[in-house]
Amino acid sequence: MTTPDGFGRSAGAGQLAAVPVGLASGPGPLPAALAHAGGAPRYWLPQQQQPAAAAPPATTPPAPTASTATAPTVTPPAAPPSAPPSGFDVEAVRRDFPQLHREVNGRPLVWLDNGATTLKPRQVVEAVAEHYAMETSNVHRGAHSLAKQATQVYEEGRQAAAELLGTPDQGEIVFVRGTTEAVNLVAQSWGRANLGVGDEILVSAAEHHSNLVPWQLIAEERRARIRPIPLLPDGQLDQDAYRDLLGSRTKMVALTHASNVLGTVPPVAEMTALAHRYGAKVLVDGAQAVAHFPVDVTALDADFYAFSGHKIFAPTGIGVLFGKRELLEAMPPWQGGGNMIDSVSFGETTYAPIPHRLEAGTGHIAGVAGLRAALQYLAGLDREAATAYEDQLTAYAMGALATVPGLQLIGNAPGKIGALTFLLVGTDPMAVAGALDQQGIAVRAGHHCAQPALAAFGLQAAVRASLALYNTVQDVDALVAALQAVQGAQGAQAR
Ligand code: ALA
Repeated sequence: MTTPDGFGRSAGAGQLAAVPVGLASGPGPLPAALAHAGGAPRYWLPQQQQPAAAAPPATTPPAPTASTATAPTVTPPAAPPSAPPSGFDVEAVRRDFPQLHREVNGRPLVWLDNGATTLKPRQVVEAVAEHYAMETSNVHRGAHSLAKQATQVYEEGRQAAAELLGTPDQGEIVFVRGTTEAVNLVAQSWGRANLGVGDEILVSAAEHHSNLVPWQLIAEERRARIRPIPLLPDGQLDQDAYRDLLGSRTKMVALTHASNVLGTVPPVAEMTALAHRYGAKVLVDGAQAVAHFPVDVTALDADFYAFSGHKIFAPTGIGVLFGKRELLEAMPPWQGGGNMIDSVSFGETTYAPIPHRLEAGTGHIAGVAGLRAALQYLAGLDREAATAYEDQLTAYAMGALATVPGLQLIGNAPGKIGALTFLLVGTDPMAVAGALDQQGIAVRAGHHCAQPALAAFGLQAAVRASLALYNTVQDVDALVAALQAVQGAQGAQAR
């Protein structure tokens, strides 16, 4: 029997595909969050809740805590976003994300920790489950049908990543575990081959540790030097300082495409063009960018570009390094093993062409299946409209947060993404995050793995609410109301 996906499974396999996976042990009611799917979903998700919009109010309100003792007061939004731009329907998107329809601590989940990781649409969950349930095989090395099928999915994932980043050359897409591994790969392979004593690596002060520590490691080994590109008070990179730092010793410029703390989107194309005048290469950390706005590495002229799957609605443990073909081809292998060789003998070992030469061992095949599904999902949206929606929501959120007494937003560079890092005067960031968690609102608190960025503002820790395309004005209002309650409780204690 041929299944609808055309992979020609046996009848037995087709029947198995209808068996629920996950924690469900037998037939039961259709999870409401999946009911919108065209046709019956093949997979059930565990402990699925009703959609938040349809959820009845909690019968027993949570016991008052320090953070909830004062009734929240919602200030009318100063500048509500206009109706969603045509082409982007946030409610339709929300229906695709099962986790948005669960509760945490008795409250509908408000997920504002997208900088740490994004939620997954059911299409991604199903793609991963499908791989493990029905399509498990290794890739690139099998003579059998399932190996060919898995290889096809894997290479389609590479093609999808190439399309996302705007390169026509799939050979420029290397699968890695995530942004961190991508930067380490470049630092260890390109860096070891190209950096020498006294060479300089410019690293912006906005970088996540992933785009700093790998450079520190290789700089120490090669006796090269890291030079920070400083920040302006609003979180922009100081372009005058950057121009002054560039010179004949500059070999690499490591730049974020969107800061995970400040939300700043630096002028990467202009900065890259400047770096190239000095013969330096540019690595762009796109971890916080790719889910928020369209990226075109060709237009940026980036030499390397990295992102993590889990921050763009795909699984953890899979990511992408883009590198210009001539650079990747000149890079020595980083890790040795299967998949990356051409022929092996005790006398001589030769290596596979790129990208496989830089992909030793069995890759994260299910992760690529999930990444492919996530990128196909995104490709099905109007990305420009989604970005416009997020921009409006970010502007709204910045205005709404400004109404919270004692709230200090860190970073207000023009064009920033919705990484909204703040302090509440007189409160500990971890305590604020804990109070929000009691309201079902997930944010991150701490140093955000970007200690130099916080240090530039004299801080060691802060709270961060980070938006994604499925967040809404209601999510922002819930955050603002909860923060006002925290402040109200604090004021009551002080009196
Ligand atoms: N880079 C991730 C964050 O910002 C871990 O939370």
